[in-house]
Amino acid sequence: MSDSLIRAQIKDLLKKRNAVLLAHNYMRDEVQEIADITGDSLGLSIAASRTDAEVIVFCGVHFMAESASILSPDKTVLLPRQDAGCPMADMVTVAGLEELKKKHPGVPVVTYVNSSAEVKACSDICCTSANAIKVVRSLKEKELIFVPDRNLGRWVAQFIPEKRFIYWEGFCPSHERMTLRDVQQQKTQHPDALFVCHPESAPEVSAIADHVCSTSGMYEWCRASSAEKFIIGTEPGILYRLRQDNPEKEFILAASALICPNMKLTSLEDVLVSLQTMIPVVTVSQEIRAKARLALDRMLAIPRD
Ligand code: 13P
Ligand code: SF4
Repeated sequence: MSDSLIRAQIKDLLKKRNAVLLAHNYMRDEVQEIADITGDSLGLSIAASRTDAEVIVFCGVHFMAESASILSPDKTVLLPRQDAGCPMADMVTVAGLEELKKKHPGVPVVTYVNSSAEVKACSDICCTSANAIKVVRSLKEKELIFVPDRNLGRWVAQFIPEKRFIYWEGFCPSHERMTLRDVQQQKTQHPDALFVCHPESAPEVSAIADHVCSTSGMYEWCRASSAEKFIIGTEPGILYRLRQDNPEKEFILAASALICPNMKLTSLEDVLVSLQTMIPVVTVSQEIRAKARLALDRMLAIPRD
C-alpha cells in the first residue's frame, strides 16, 4: 500500500473512531506529520488530560501511553507498538524505590514521568524535563528523592542549592551516548553554532551548552534566537519540526548515537493496523491508577510559564 493511501486510511479511521493522534517530538517525521498534536512529555500529558476524543492513539513509548490512560481512564489508549519501551523507565523498580524510601523516611519522592505507573504510584509528585525545577521548588521539604534520571536530577539541583537531592542512578542510554568529545568536535567544525541539549545529557555535556531544555523548549529557544546555526543534543526526531519551522536556520545533530531505537519503532503502518484492530490497548489497574494520578495531578497543578 502506498504511503498516501495509508495516510488517507488513518485519517478516515481517526474520524470514524473519534480518535486523536498524539505524537512525541522524537517520532519518525511521517508520524509527526500526520499527528493531531505533537509535543514534549508535559504537553502531551496535558493534551491527554483535556481531549474529548474517545480514543487516544499514542505514538511514543509505553510510559507516555500509561500516563494518558491514568489521566483519561474512560478513553481507550492505543500504543501502536507494544514493544516501544523506555530503558530509563525500566531502571527503577517499585521494590528498589521502596527500599530507598525506607532508608529516608518522610523524604518526598519526585519522579520523572519516564517511569512506570507502579513507580509513579509510590511517588509524591511527578515532573517532566520542562517543569522539573518548578516541581522541586514547590516542595516545602529540604530533602528529596529524585527518580530515575540522575542527569536531570543533577541538572535541576544546580538551580536549587538549598535542597539536598538523593538520586536514583538511572539514565537515558541515548543521551548518555553523546560524549563531550562529540560536542567539542562539532563545535570546532561549526564555531558559529550555538549548542542546545536536553537535561538527560551527561553533566559534562550540559555544562558546555548554551541552553538546556525539554524538546518543546528547544523549538521555542531556537525560533527566538537570532543565531543561524545550532548543534542539537537530543534525539534526532526533533530535527523534523526544527527544520520546518526555521527553514533559514541550520541544525546539526551533535552525535548520531543519540537515536532512541524505541522512539523509531512506530511506523505509519503500525498506526493504521492499530486503528483497524483497536489493539494494543494500554491500561492501568484501578489501584495503581488512583495513586499514580495523585502524583501526576500534583505536577499538572503547577502553572506552566
Ligand atoms: P521531553 O519531550 O519531555 O523533553 O522528553 C524527552 C524524552 O526523553 C522522552 O522520552
Ligand atoms: Fe527513554 Fe531516552 Fe528513549 Fe526517551 S530518548 S524514550 S528517555 S531511552
